[in-house]
Amino acid sequence: MIRPLLALLALALATAAQAAEPLGPPGAPAAVFPRPDRPVAEIIAAQWALERDREKADEFGQVARLMRFTAGQTVADVGAGSGYYVTRLSPVVGPRGRVLAEDVMPLYLADLERRLRRAGLSNVTVVRGEPHDPRLVPASVDAAILVHMYHEITQPFGLLHNLAAAMKPGGRVGIVDADDIPSRHGTPPKLLRCELSAAGYRETGFSVLDGGVGYLAIFEAPAPDARPDPGAIRPCKDEATRAAPG
Ligand SMILES: C[S@@+](CC[C@H](N)C(=O)[O-])C[C@H]1O[C@@H](n2cnc3c(N)ncnc32)[C@H](O)[C@@H]1O
Repeated sequence: MIRPLLALLALALATAAQAAEPLGPPGAPAAVFPRPDRPVAEIIAAQWALERDREKADEFGQVARLMRFTAGQTVADVGAGSGYYVTRLSPVVGPRGRVLAEDVMPLYLADLERRLRRAGLSNVTVVRGEPHDPRLVPASVDAAILVHMYHEITQPFGLLHNLAAAMKPGGRVGIVDADDIPSRHGTPPKLLRCELSAAGYRETGFSVLDGGVGYLAIFEAPAPDARPDPGAIRPCKDEATRAAPG
C-alpha cells in the first residue's frame, strides 16, 4: 500500500518539477512581471468537469456561438487540459484552420496527444507553454480561449502580455470562469476586468452561460506595441478575495 503511494507522490513531484522547468526564450521573461496580489489556485486536474455533463449544458456550443468560431480560423486553447474544447474545435475550424492546444503540464499534454492521435485530429498542434508565456507564434491567432483556468495562472500579467503578441489584430480572447474567489477555483469578474485592463486588454462582451457553466468574458488584446510596460503594471486588489478564508 505504501509503495504505490510513494510512487504516486514521486510522480506528482516529478511532474510539478518538470512543469516548473524553465524553457527559456521566446516571450518576455517571468521576472519582469509583478505577481498577482491575490491567491492563485493550484492545478489539480486536466478537466473542469465531466464531458457528458458539459455536453448536457451545451458548454462548447454556447462558447462557440459567442466567440463566433468559424472554418479556417486559428484558435488557441490556453490551458487545454484533456481537450474538451480542442476535440470540438477541430471540426469547427476544419482542414484550413488550426487548433493550438497549449498547457503547462507535460503529462496532460502527453495524454492529450494520445487522445488526438486516437481521434485522428490532424489540424491540432500541441504546445507546451510556461505559466507566464503560452509560447505561441507571433500574430498567428484569430481567437484564444482560457477555460476554467485563469485562477490557476501564477503569472497572469506575463501570460496576458505574451499572449497579446500571438494575437492577430482584432483577435478575440475569451475567458470562461466561475464567479467565485480563486481559492475556490473561480475569478470574480471585477477582479478579472481589473487584471485584463492592467495588461492593456479591452472588454468587448460579457455573458453568463446557462447550465451553471460560469461566465464568458471577451476581450480584445492590445497591439504588441501598445502593451503596457511590464514594470509599470500594478496588480489589482480584490476585497472579496482578500477577506475570504483560504
Ligand atoms: C481545470 S483545468 C481546465 C482544462 C480545460 N480548459 C477544461 O475546460 O476542461 C485547468 C488547466 O489549466 C492549465 N494551466 C494552469 N495554469 C496554466 C498556465 N499558466 N498556462 C497554461 N495552462 C495552465 C492546467 O494545467 C490545466 O490543464
